[in-house]
Amino acid sequence: MKSLLITIDGPSGAGKSTVSRGLAERLGYTYVDTGALYRAVAFVAHSKGCSADDDNGLADICKHLELRFEKSSKGRRLYANGEDITERVRTSEITMLASAVSARSVVRENLLNVQRGMGKGGGLVFEGRDMGTVVFPEADVKFYLNAHLDTRVLRRYKELVETDAATSLPGVRKAMMKRDEDDSSRALAPLKPAHDAVRIDSTFLGIEQVVEAMFHHIRGQAK
Ligand code: DC
Repeated sequence: MKSLLITIDGPSGAGKSTVSRGLAERLGYTYVDTGALYRAVAFVAHSKGCSADDDNGLADICKHLELRFEKSSKGRRLYANGEDITERVRTSEITMLASAVSARSVVRENLLNVQRGMGKGGGLVFEGRDMGTVVFPEADVKFYLNAHLDTRVLRRYKELVETDAATSLPGVRKAMMKRDEDDSSRALAPLKPAHDAVRIDSTFLGIEQVVEAMFHHIRGQAK
């Protein structure tokens, strides 16, 4: 199949990452997790003691931050200034801080360039919140993946409790509702479906079914 640029947006817990990875594999494409880039900025800000509302500090961090993904036997790894930070950006603290720094224009502007740089050439599946609306408005195929809040909470809970037995369902629900609200209501590039995105609800669908539905749609488009 020709080298298309495909975007998948949606709220956390809708299954975006697993679906994006599966779709990329099926197409022989490269998968780009853009949330990881915001997490990387949050991680560096946290380690430097820079708060989410310190625009000068964030600007400085972005200016000196070299981000890249690299394939390895352990899957795709995220490097920030040469350091592998793949697992370290997944804590609850960095998750909330990533949402906060993602609302700052200085961070969004910097990462816009990084993402467009990574998008050259096609053969890519980009996953995020504003891929189809802001970063790649000319993408070949756009999807918006959603699921009922209860389903998303349960999925995230199952994921988190594997590494942290103290994880609670009400805690996950509260954090997810806050993040959904913050990501959708921010002034810059808020989470919303692009007008030309194909909407898929994964509440009652398994990962394979979602990938299959997307694959069929793309094949139809590519003909
Ligand atoms: O997809 P994720 O949970 O790893 O994303 C972490 C945060 O980054 C999320 O709360 C919102 C932000 N984000 C964004 O603003 N734009 C994107 N394209 C991807 C993520």
